[in-house]
Amino acid sequence: MKAYRAAILRFADDHRAQYEADGLLVVGPDAAGRPVVRAVGAYDALAPNYPGVAIEHLPGRLIAPGFVDLHIHFPQTDVIGSPAEGLLPWLENYTFPHESRFADAAYAAEVATVFLDELLRHGVTTALTFCTSHPASVDALMAASQARGMRLIAGKVLQDRHSPDGVRDQTEQSLADTEALIGRWHGQGRLGYAITPRFAPSCSEAQLRGAGALAAKYPDVWIQSHVAENKDEIRWARELFPQSRSYLSIYDDFGLMRERAVYAHCIHFDDDDRALMRSTGAAAAVSPTSNLFLGSGFFDYEGADRIGFKYGLASDVGGGTSFSPFHTMLAAYHVGREGQTKPGLSLSPQALWWQHTAGAAQALGLDGVVGNLQPGCEADFVVLDPQATPLLARKTAQAGNLDELLFALIVLGDDRVVEKTVIS
Ligand code: GUN
Ligand code: ZN
Repeated sequence: MKAYRAAILRFADDHRAQYEADGLLVVGPDAAGRPVVRAVGAYDALAPNYPGVAIEHLPGRLIAPGFVDLHIHFPQTDVIGSPAEGLLPWLENYTFPHESRFADAAYAAEVATVFLDELLRHGVTTALTFCTSHPASVDALMAASQARGMRLIAGKVLQDRHSPDGVRDQTEQSLADTEALIGRWHGQGRLGYAITPRFAPSCSEAQLRGAGALAAKYPDVWIQSHVAENKDEIRWARELFPQSRSYLSIYDDFGLMRERAVYAHCIHFDDDDRALMRSTGAAAAVSPTSNLFLGSGFFDYEGADRIGFKYGLASDVGGGTSFSPFHTMLAAYHVGREGQTKPGLSLSPQALWWQHTAGAAQALGLDGVVGNLQPGCEADFVVLDPQATPLLARKTAQAGNLDELLFALIVLGDDRVVEKTVIS
């Protein structure tokens, strides 16, 4: 067992933050020998219960749950900041040519290392990530994650049409590869597999049908895709699948909406789409830096909450512009402001932080496992330095309550705030 003394942030079931100014986090093995949070609370109350347990004292620091990135592309690490008129030219001119390089396993392994280092440096301990259509890109990322003990969910992209040579796959082979990768990686230690149709326009009906069959055969495997991101993309999807009620319904029609299905963007929805998200248990990965960069639009927070479907925050690197959860939370705040019709704050700092930790974990069906520091959770956490920059030190010293402290970190914070990332 080991314990950490610092300020501690965690979340209650009602999504509200719980904060200990002088807290103790006790980490030790669960019944299966896995390191988990054994106890958490006020230092004065808890410390006497753990005599003899080594305590690492971190004065002035804040311990918080490791961040959960609900949607990211590992092969787009070097695509960040590629300007384009919109999604489709961005894919064609930058993303597909770059992803074709991942046919080379050595290149994939090199980028996997950089990618995981970046996640950890920014305090992200769990991610749901796209690989490329090349199975070797999955092997490279999974092996590198396993070596670090990270909880990571990833999948080989399915794209058997409307995709250039170098990234286009073949229907039967792509499904056989997916099933082989599920067998090789899903449930290995902390790794999970996600069936990954890129988006409906890049997948034939046969490929979507096969993906749906695999999703039914392996109910605890995740599903990830993109939907309703960009107006031209939506028009194209509707032309290709005229029989479906909406773009989102295409996925439902092929058996790809259920718990553990995560759809990136979900911007241009109507209430029937929102109701479909809710009734199927699928979740949205809200990716504000990407949506702002590519000019895709603004996620409708009020609509999502009115109907009540699950969502969490995501970087969507490399459409997204930053690995930093602080940048993503700030962008989400701006987006919430844009769509706001009700008075008051659009999104509270506690709500933003929840969406990138416990809320994102809930969207993955991993609530109580990651994204929080309640007893029983896996002990992945960050040690934050609220004085990491001169301005932050001034601002956080003047914070009169928890919301002001969290807002200062969200608005002024980045990787400099993340002093240490601990993987259990
Ligand atoms: N739609 C299909 N592929 C992609 C992708 O790589 N990024 C984004 N943002 N949207 C997509
Ligand atoms: Zn994406």
